[in-house]
Amino acid sequence: MLILGIESSCDETALSIVRDGVEILADSREFQDEIHAPFGGVVPEFAARHHAEKISILFKRTLEKANIEADKIDAIGVTNGPGLVGSLLVGFMFARGLSIGLSKPLIPVNHILAHLYMPSMIFTKEILYPHYAILISGGHTFLIRADSILNYEILAKTRDDAIGEAFDKIAFFMGLGYPGGKAIDKRALNGNCDRIVFPVTRFKEDTLDFSFSGLKTATLEMIRSKKYDGQEKDFLASFQKAAFDIVLNSVNKLNREKPLGQIVFGGGVAANSFLRDYAHSKIKDKGVKLFFPPLEYCTDNGAMVAGLAYHLLRSGKEFKAQDVFSRSDFRKTY
Ligand code: KG4
Ligand code: ZN
Repeated sequence: MLILGIESSCDETALSIVRDGVEILADSREFQDEIHAPFGGVVPEFAARHHAEKISILFKRTLEKANIEADKIDAIGVTNGPGLVGSLLVGFMFARGLSIGLSKPLIPVNHILAHLYMPSMIFTKEILYPHYAILISGGHTFLIRADSILNYEILAKTRDDAIGEAFDKIAFFMGLGYPGGKAIDKRALNGNCDRIVFPVTRFKEDTLDFSFSGLKTATLEMIRSKKYDGQEKDFLASFQKAAFDIVLNSVNKLNREKPLGQIVFGGGVAANSFLRDYAHSKIKDKGVKLFFPPLEYCTDNGAMVAGLAYHLLRSGKEFKAQDVFSRSDFRKTY
């Protein structure tokens, strides 16, 4: 079964054709980094306009890469949330038009669950359910228990900023460019991550939730005070360690109390090279296996949308065109 996946929830227009939920035949993307860079964050109206400009070009490019005609597509999966409404609408209406024109099913896909499905597209046989899943991206930070591909329970979330947002803000203030996660990752390489101790929020109550605003404010304060001028590498390495400690402390706690044996990472921040190494030493319990998506599929892409759409289609659920756009939450079960 061939599924076209369409992703436009933020600032990447991304289309992909995937066979049977796992085999990526074509993957095309258009980035908007230069458009948003001067503002240090995504400008929603510019994002939506750019999606509208690029989406049909990308559709043609994706078909060419997969070497198939449009009528060979069996279904269209599209991100219906969460994300920027203007951006989502461009992808959604394009998908709906295709669905009507080609008389193929339209499948709404939750962006967060699509990120978390991605590692299973690659490690199809190795990743088992239930497992714990961690979504770390520019807009979201969630710790989830995944009982099956379509059944999830949120165990913890950020109470303020997303982790990627903290990376992007700090990089912007340091003049490292936008989006900043990758820039910080590069500049922190081989830095001494134990050099500076950053504050890591702890809640009074017993919770697995995260908070990044305290770390962000403390880091911005240190930048303003110029205390670590000339020591950028160690400063950024220490910041990264503090940010990932916030996430991994909760993961460790959960994994120690109720181990499930596997922990799956997803989202743009999962591309971080320090994290991909550090997580293995920080999560100490023997036998636990960690899975990360391949680097190029950590950030937003159409393949994860097409992949999850395949399972939704097979689940036999019916999606009515008039109400799918509002079905973007995933509190308990898809
Ligand atoms: O998943 P994604 O493409 O979009 C959302 O769903 O939010 O994630 C984008 C986020 C940005 O905050 C970006 O700075 C961050 O992922 N990111 C990284 C790295 N590559 C991208 N953060 C840390 N290290 C990286 N190597
Ligand atoms: Zn994303």
